[in-house]
Amino acid sequence: MSLPLNGRQHAANSTESEVPLEPNGLECRHSCPPAAHGAVMILRMATPADVALLRHWDRQPHISAAKGDDDWAWEVELNKSPGWMEQLIADVEGRSIGFLQIIDPAREDSHYWGDVPPDLRAIDLWIGEPADVGKGYGTEMMRLALARCFADPAVTAVLVDPLAGNTRAHRFYKRLGFRFVEHRRFGRDDCFVYRLNRAEYISLTCGNRCSC
Ligand SMILES: CC(C)(COP(=O)(O)OP(=O)(O)OC[C@H]1O[C@@H](n2cnc3c(N)ncnc32)[C@H](O)[C@@H]1OP(=O)(O)O)[C@@H](O)C(=O)NCCC(=O)NCCS
Repeated sequence: MSLPLNGRQHAANSTESEVPLEPNGLECRHSCPPAAHGAVMILRMATPADVALLRHWDRQPHISAAKGDDDWAWEVELNKSPGWMEQLIADVEGRSIGFLQIIDPAREDSHYWGDVPPDLRAIDLWIGEPADVGKGYGTEMMRLALARCFADPAVTAVLVDPLAGNTRAHRFYKRLGFRFVEHRRFGRDDCFVYRLNRAEYISLTCGNRCSC
C-alpha cells in the first residue's frame, strides 16, 4: 500500500464500466466473482467534496488494517494536480463505494518506489464500507483501472504493493493475473510487490460480459 501522495491529475475524465457487474450467466474462465446485480460502475475524479467520505472510510478497520494509520491529508491532496497521479472514486449507480489511486512511480515526487523505469503504473485501492467488501466491486474497479492504465500504449506493466500480511489482497491480485515479484520494505511497511505485464494483461482479458 503506497504512502500518502501529493495531489491529483488535471484530467477529469470518468470511466464508465461498459458491462453490468452481473456476469449474466456467461461462463468466465477466470472465475470472476459474482457482483451487484445489474449495477454499472463509474470511476470519477475525487474532489475536495469527498474529504469527509474518505476520512470516514479511513476509520473503517478493514481499511486501516490494509493501509496503516498514515494520514493521507485529503484536504491537501485533493487540491493538488500533478500529472503523475489520478485519485478516483468508484460510484455504483450514484453511490460512492471505493477509492482508487493510479500513479506513475517514476515521476511520483516522494520516489516511494525508488529507482524504477518509466512507463509503469502503480495502483492502490480500497472498498469503503465493510458491507461492500467481497461483492465484486474491487474486481470491477481493477478491471476499469487496468483498462485505463493500459490504454496508454507506452505503459508496460502495473505494480501493486499490499502489506505482506494482507493475504486476502494477495489472493485478489493473483486472481486478476498479477505475479509476485518481491518481498520489499517501504518505510515502516513490510510489503509484497506484484506485477501485471501488458502481455499477460492482454492474454487474460477474456472479452466476455463478466467482471474480469
Ligand atoms: C482488496 C479489496 C479492494 C478487494 O475488493 P472486493 O470488492 O472485496 O473484492 P471482490 O469482491 O471483487 O473479490 C473478493 C476477493 O477479494 C479478496 N479480498 C481481499 N480482502 C477481502 C475482504 N476483507 N473480504 C473479502 N474478500 C477480500 C479475496 O481474494 C476475495 O476473494 P475470495 O472470495 O477468493 O477470498 C477489498 O477487499 C478491500 O478494500 N480490502 C481492504 C483494503 C485492501 O486490502 N486494499 C488493497 C491493499 S493494496
